[in-house]
Amino acid sequence: MKIDIITLFPNMLKGFFDESILKRAISKGLLEVNLHNLRDYSLDKHKRVDDYAFGGGAGMVIQIEPVDNCLTELKKKTNYDEIIYTAPDGEMLTQDLANELSLKENICILCGHYKGVDERIRQHLITREISIGEYVLSGGELAAGVIADSVVRLIPGVLNDEQSALSDSFQDGLIAPPVYTRPADYKGWKVPDVLLSGHEANIEQWRYNQSLERTEKRKR
Ligand code: ADE
Repeated sequence: MKIDIITLFPNMLKGFFDESILKRAISKGLLEVNLHNLRDYSLDKHKRVDDYAFGGGAGMVIQIEPVDNCLTELKKKTNYDEIIYTAPDGEMLTQDLANELSLKENICILCGHYKGVDERIRQHLITREISIGEYVLSGGELAAGVIADSVVRLIPGVLNDEQSALSDSFQDGLIAPPVYTRPADYKGWKVPDVLLSGHEANIEQWRYNQSLERTEKRKR
């Protein structure tokens, strides 16, 4: 999968892709990530990419021209399956949506900033708007990171043990059961006996019951 991210703050994301599972996906050749600085696509001599809102009001708005220039350049090389704009009022990111996106080959993510982007960008230049929750972040960079992480870990081969993505919470509509590791007794806080019993069927049953209980609790 290739993910192109258009941002005013590429440094916010650089470190993110240089760690852990995303880094491994890149080094295994399963993921390519390119960060594009929107400012590089400004034709303005001061490299401005934003301006005041027509009609007044507080906050700056990202202009359509640099975004269009950038996307036009990128589209010369890549045929995108989705061009995503990160927005608090977008479609909510869920495990189902992450699964759907993990099947795509080429994704572009445009990170918003300031008061947002010129509405015509949303109308004409992107294919999808995704929110990571009903709260407002200062910019779309964290949202882009969250989207990329949730999607990339689902690409076959990215995780060492593919089971661990299949048994993630939400993958089967259930929250994952609790897990424990050594020591079995820490300051009197004990691991449930069943997990130490070696009885596989009982352990499976216990895990399933715990999943059901947790899923039920979350609904309340
Ligand atoms: N940009 C600002 N807030 C956001 C959110 N909650 N989700 C996605 N993008 C955003």
